[in-house]
Amino acid sequence: VLDKPFSPSCERNRDPILDVLREHFADRRRVLEIGSGTGQHAAHFAAAMPWLTWQCSDVADNLPGIQMWLDEAGLPNTPMPLELDVMRWPWRAGPHPPCGHLLPPAGDGNDSVDAQGFDAAFSANTLHIMGWPAVEAFFRGLDSVLAADATLIVYGPFNDDGRYTSDSNRDFDAWLKARDPQSGIRDAAAVDALARAIGLRRIDDVAMPANNRCLIWQRR
Ligand SMILES: C[S@@+](CC[C@H](N)C(=O)[O-])C[C@H]1O[C@@H](n2cnc3c(N)ncnc32)[C@H](O)[C@@H]1O
Repeated sequence: VLDKPFSPSCERNRDPILDVLREHFADRRRVLEIGSGTGQHAAHFAAAMPWLTWQCSDVADNLPGIQMWLDEAGLPNTPMPLELDVMRWPWRAGPHPPCGHLLPPAGDGNDSVDAQGFDAAFSANTLHIMGWPAVEAFFRGLDSVLAADATLIVYGPFNDDGRYTSDSNRDFDAWLKARDPQSGIRDAAAVDALARAIGLRRIDDVAMPANNRCLIWQRR
């Protein structure tokens, strides 16, 4: 029997993040969350922002735990979590990218990703866990699923010009790399270059508690 997964950091950062999402997702409708993790953020954010459809996704192993959080919350705006490993996006672009038109992959229709695509995307604490090829694939895949006016918010620690913004982030990066040499805190400018390549313009960089940031982009 699976225990409901629990992340203490989610409990600490969810309300500061919610303040940012409330502002930037006020006029959004469909959010794709990449790397939903436990599902705690999704349950909290979807309850607080009932005007959004909050679509969770993660690698297959995490989907049962996410489903437990969503089932417990019983919200009307959280469809079933989708399997998404950014190295293998399951949806391909339609005839008019980058407008967010989607077609199901041959033989494997997924009607929860409809022709509208997503007008928002959110991801927390993922880019420093993924290897750099996966960070690149994260943005390449978003190109096809984001609508022409989409907003993207990425939460986590970032460096500037190769420099750590705090000693705690330096220690965290060493800890990450000891676990997985491919992982590590990303440079905000390097991530921004990937975003620009898919038509996203950075509109904000919000300092968050514990030396984290919310980077915010708009496609328009
Ligand atoms: C540190 S956890 C963060 C989870 C959650 N967003 C949070 O803030 O608590 C990193 C997440 O990234 C996901 N992840 C790592 N590599 C991934 C990939 N290639 N594609 C999609 N998700 C990935 C993991 O499965 C995990 O859920």
